[in-house]
Amino acid sequence: MKKILVTGALGQIGTELVLYLRDLYGKDNVIASGRRRKEENILMKDGIFEIVNATDAKKLDEIVKKYKINEIHHLAAVLSAVGEQDTQRCWDVNINGLYHTLEVARENNCSVFVPSSIAAFGPETPKDNTPQDTIQRPTSMYGVTKVAGELLCDYYAAKFGVDIRGLRYPGIISHTTMPGGGTTDYAVHIYFEAIENKKYTCFLREGTSMDMMYMPDALESAVKLMEADPAKLKHRNAFNVTGMTFAPEDIYAEIKKHIPDFVMDYDVDPVRQAIADSWPNSLDDSAAREEWGWDPKYDLAKMTEDMLSVLTEKLKK
Ligand code: SER
Repeated sequence: MKKILVTGALGQIGTELVLYLRDLYGKDNVIASGRRRKEENILMKDGIFEIVNATDAKKLDEIVKKYKINEIHHLAAVLSAVGEQDTQRCWDVNINGLYHTLEVARENNCSVFVPSSIAAFGPETPKDNTPQDTIQRPTSMYGVTKVAGELLCDYYAAKFGVDIRGLRYPGIISHTTMPGGGTTDYAVHIYFEAIENKKYTCFLREGTSMDMMYMPDALESAVKLMEADPAKLKHRNAFNVTGMTFAPEDIYAEIKKHIPDFVMDYDVDPVRQAIADSWPNSLDDSAAREEWGWDPKYDLAKMTEDMLSVLTEKLKK
C-alpha cells in the first residue's frame, strides 16, 4: 500500500496532484506538505497537511517516519523567473531541498518522484525536436539547479539503489492554483485575462515557441511513470514529455475562436524573454512514449475549450 508525501503541495502542480493521488490511493494515504498553511487553498479542507520546509531535513525525516511514507513526490521548488530575482534562494530550495529529500528517501526506503523541466536545456541544445539525451548547458539559475538535480537523482539511484523517477515538464497550464513565477506563466494568465478583460499583454515576444501541457496530462504522467514496470525503464529519471508546442500568437488565435473580440498586445520582459529564448522550441518525447507509454490527451484546441469553459463558470462566482 502506498503512503505518499507531497512536498510543495500548495503550488500549482502540488494542489492538484494531492487531490488526484487521494482519489487514486485514498485520502489518508496522501500527506500534503508545504512551508506554511494557506487557508484559501482547497487542500486545507481535504485531508492531512503538515508544515514542512523542504530544506529542513530533520522535520522531513520526522514526517516520513510519522506516517510511514514509502513514496515522496518532491515538488517544492523555486521557478525560473523568480529564480533569477533571488538566485541564492533558488539554489537553496531546489538543490538543498532535493538533497535532503533524497537522503531521507535513502534512509527510509522511499521511492521518489522528482520533476525536472525544459529549463534543463540551454542555448547550445538542439532547439527543435530536442532529443532525450543531448547537450545540457542552461543559462538560468533554475536551469542550473534542474541539471544538477537530474544528476543527483541519477547518482542516488546508481549508488544507493533509491527508486527515483522524473519528468522534464514543459509549461503547465491549469485553472486551480496559479503558477508561482515561471517563464511559461503567460499561457495561464492569458485565459484569465481573456475571460475577465478581453485583453492581454504578453510578456514574451511573438514567435517564442515552447512546449506546454495541460494539468490532467501532467498528473497522469506522474502516476503512470511511478507505476511503470521498472524493467522497461532505461532512463527512469528526467524523461522529456510534452503535450503541445505553441507560441503566444498561436494560443491567442485559439482563444479568439471562442472570444472573437479578445485582443492581445506585447510588452516584452527581457529577463523572461532571455530565459524562453534559451529553452527548446519543441521536445522529442519518444523515450517516454516507448518506455512507459506516455500518451497525452490534450492539444491546444482541446485544452482551450476546457480551460475557457471551466474558468468562465469559476469567474462568475
Ligand atoms: N514552467 C516552468 C517555468 O517557467 C518551467 O519548468 O519556470
